Amino acid sequence: MKLRLDRYLTEMGLGTRSEVKRTVGKGLVQINGIIIKRPEHKVDTESDKVLYQGNPVAYAKYEYYMLNKPGGIISATEDLKETTVIDLIKGRQRQDLFPVGRLDKDTEGLLLITNDGKLAHRLLSPKKHVDKTYYAEIDGEVTEEDVKAFAEGIDIGDEKMTLPAELVILQSGCGSEVELTIREGRFHQIKRMFHARGKEVAYLKRLRMGSLVLDEKLKTGEYRELTKKEIEELC
Ligand code: URA
Repeated sequence: MKLRLDRYLTEMGLGTRSEVKRTVGKGLVQINGIIIKRPEHKVDTESDKVLYQGNPVAYAKYEYYMLNKPGGIISATEDLKETTVIDLIKGRQRQDLFPVGRLDKDTEGLLLITNDGKLAHRLLSPKKHVDKTYYAEIDGEVTEEDVKAFAEGIDIGDEKMTLPAELVILQSGCGSEVELTIREGRFHQIKRMFHARGKEVAYLKRLRMGSLVLDEKLKTGEYRELTKKEIEELC
């Protein structure tokens, strides 16, 4: 693919269009060992070797990150007051990253962050019913009746009942631990499902989305790039 030099550098997060133009004009950018001062110069993203102020700049069309989202962070791209999940991806090159779907501010766990809109659409499309598995701690005793009710679908006050969900009780008492797999992504869905059963979610963490499983080695707040295999499986 061929791209204007200023666009190439902007997309790789090296500054605004006017900032990178200035740097190019000062002769601080080389392509294949030659100083290029024209921002409109066309870069071959596959074969050209670009140096920006002496540092190599590899072109990445798409970036894919797995974040173990901490609580207290919002699933948005930017916000004037709050830290967003994108702010946590310090090593990113692309400036057009976004979270694939939303987790509530207090929810932790797996969040895919990318600039691949087609993949995001496939994962989020209501028609595709991609499985999402969560670990949850519940105030109250989760019973086999809840398991049955979740399997049949729950009335959470929307036009339609929820689709059948698989609830697995890990531990039950006055506080319970469960794993829940849902195939939709309605607003506050899990909290509303338990609320409809007279119980409240005390802690929620996403463990899996489709084929993508949260890497146990990632501490909360940490992230890593997806492997080639993970990307292929998702696609
Ligand atoms: N369901 C919820 O209630 N909250 C989330 O963050 C995700 C699913």
